Amino acid sequence: MNLTQKLAADKVEKGVADIITFFADLAPTLRGGFLTQVPEIAGTSNVYGEEQMKLDVWADKTILEKLVASKRVCAIFTEEQPEIVKVAGGAKYAVCIDPMDGSSNIKTNLAMGTIVAIFGGSDALAPGKEQKAALYLLFGPVTTMVATWGKGVNEFIFDGKQFLLRAEGIRLPEKPAVYVPGGRKEKWLPGFARFMAEIEKTDMKSRNNGCMVSDVNTLLKYGGIFTYPAQTDKPDGKLRVLCEANPMAFIIAQAGGYGSDGRKSLLEIKPTHSDQRTPIYLGNTELVKKVESYLKA
Ligand code: F6P
Repeated sequence: MNLTQKLAADKVEKGVADIITFFADLAPTLRGGFLTQVPEIAGTSNVYGEEQMKLDVWADKTILEKLVASKRVCAIFTEEQPEIVKVAGGAKYAVCIDPMDGSSNIKTNLAMGTIVAIFGGSDALAPGKEQKAALYLLFGPVTTMVATWGKGVNEFIFDGKQFLLRAEGIRLPEKPAVYVPGGRKEKWLPGFARFMAEIEKTDMKSRNNGCMVSDVNTLLKYGGIFTYPAQTDKPDGKLRVLCEANPMAFIIAQAGGYGSDGRKSLLEIKPTHSDQRTPIYLGNTELVKKVESYLKA
């Protein structure tokens, strides 16, 4: 079964399905863009003779131009834009996008991804619980799309022509195997440091891919907890509510897990501005509840 067939089988509303399909169709272009962004291959300019851009800026420009032209959405927030971009044409959906998450991995030739949250209406600042769908593209050795539209989590794999359903109804494994310690240890809050000290005593293994998409994908396969915590110098952590916390918390919730800002569900946050940050603790519910209790103590 391919992505189009799965969207039809699940009776996903057309406007949402069209946006998901847009990102599936764009995936080969985004992956192809990596070549033009590697200086040794691209030279000083890319294949189109354009001045070479940073990968995340290039991905942002590419997605934005094509999404605006598609008229499938009426509001777009991307991590690279200072303001929400309004699109004329009467579409009834807002999207929040991290065009190239983990783009510093270009230097080390490691995985990167694109993250998308889809809302009905024109409010890109709606709380995460109002998302209609969320997805990420993972550019690893192969390209995959992990998506939810509120009926569980599906994984699709790109075979060179189309996205084929690889797994549906994905659940976080019950026995957590990995933890992702974010930020800098000496800046952790005392409660979080105590939690991590406990985790280190278990048989779970530490993983940090330098890319939230890769880390969340690792969680879905192995179970565990991803953290980018509040720090003494950065009480709101590093990651953004709109294009990182919201979509990933929706996907993890649909896989049977939980995402927290340390006190409450990430999906309950009502953002007041597009660049809002939040601490993130995400993964198997009992671990995330545990970190909440350590932070409270
Ligand atoms: O900017 C987003 C991001 O690259 C995430 O994908 C990743 O989890 C995090 O930042 C890594 O941050 P740091 O470099 O501080 O470990």
